[in-house]
Amino acid sequence: MFFDKFKKDNTISSTKEPELPPLPSDSLGLDKLIENIKSICGVDLESKKDIVRQRLANFCQANNIATFENLSLKISVNRTLRQEILNLITINETYFFRELAQLQAAIYHAKNLGRLRILCAPCSSGEEVYSLGILAHSNLLNTSQISITGIDINSEAIDKCFEGLYSERSLHRLNDTQKKLYFDKVDDKFKIKKDLLPRCEFGVVNIFDDSIFRLGKFDIIFSRNMIIYFNEEYKLKTVERFHKILNDGGRLYMGHADLVPYTNIYKKLTSPNVTYYAKV
Ligand SMILES: C[S@@+](CC[C@H](N)C(=O)[O-])C[C@H]1O[C@@H](n2cnc3c(N)ncnc32)[C@H](O)[C@@H]1O
Repeated sequence: MFFDKFKKDNTISSTKEPELPPLPSDSLGLDKLIENIKSICGVDLESKKDIVRQRLANFCQANNIATFENLSLKISVNRTLRQEILNLITINETYFFRELAQLQAAIYHAKNLGRLRILCAPCSSGEEVYSLGILAHSNLLNTSQISITGIDINSEAIDKCFEGLYSERSLHRLNDTQKKLYFDKVDDKFKIKKDLLPRCEFGVVNIFDDSIFRLGKFDIIFSRNMIIYFNEEYKLKTVERFHKILNDGGRLYMGHADLVPYTNIYKKLTSPNVTYYAKV
């Protein structure tokens, strides 16, 4: 009897949930953290402070970090933690054939180029890269002459690029023929048939990291729906960095919602209803 009771008590004490540390609440620390995140990746969270505060606080609590200031210091030195934060705060919404007219215009232009390299920076989970691949194949371009590189700062998004498995929702702009030709059905998902497409490569790269310059030069760069999260200074830095990795005569395609600050290193052109920036 005594033994039974002892066992029971013992069991209760050993399964007791460990108490979580309190949520951080240092406002100045949060300001420093937001500033630090901006200087790492350009994403300006100031206007979304109230939304991200809770997310970052939960992250601190789960990782036993007492203050936002402490988290800010840690992400400057700890790469794993920094990557987790970048994965947490970036918005990866994308889908196949998004802003299709631009993709078609670039492929039409590519017909005249022969061998060429395209960069999608950022590529999120890969839909933009594979959309260009599908268009290159369906427009009878010589796929062996083309390579498409996708980069993104979010490592989980890049894992999805390699996996190439997409939901019905992500394919909503494709017709049934395109779905059948370019995907294998796997349960309720669609797996991209990479063999039909030009070479598609992916990597985790922060566009503000100098590793971007090791990718070599490109004839076409797509950078859509990323600088909407940047302030003017970082928007300008972004297009200046792309200028350095564009070949002469290269083109930069930005998204419809991306407001590009004026700079004389590009000429803004429209043909016929698609806008792009030609390297000057
Ligand atoms: C909304 S998605 C855009 C994806 C695709 N280009 C499109 O238009 O559908 C924005 C992406 O920008 C990435 N991003 C933000 N800052 C970045 C940086 N400094 N370097 C590389 N990627 C970044 C995010 O991780 C996110 O996947």
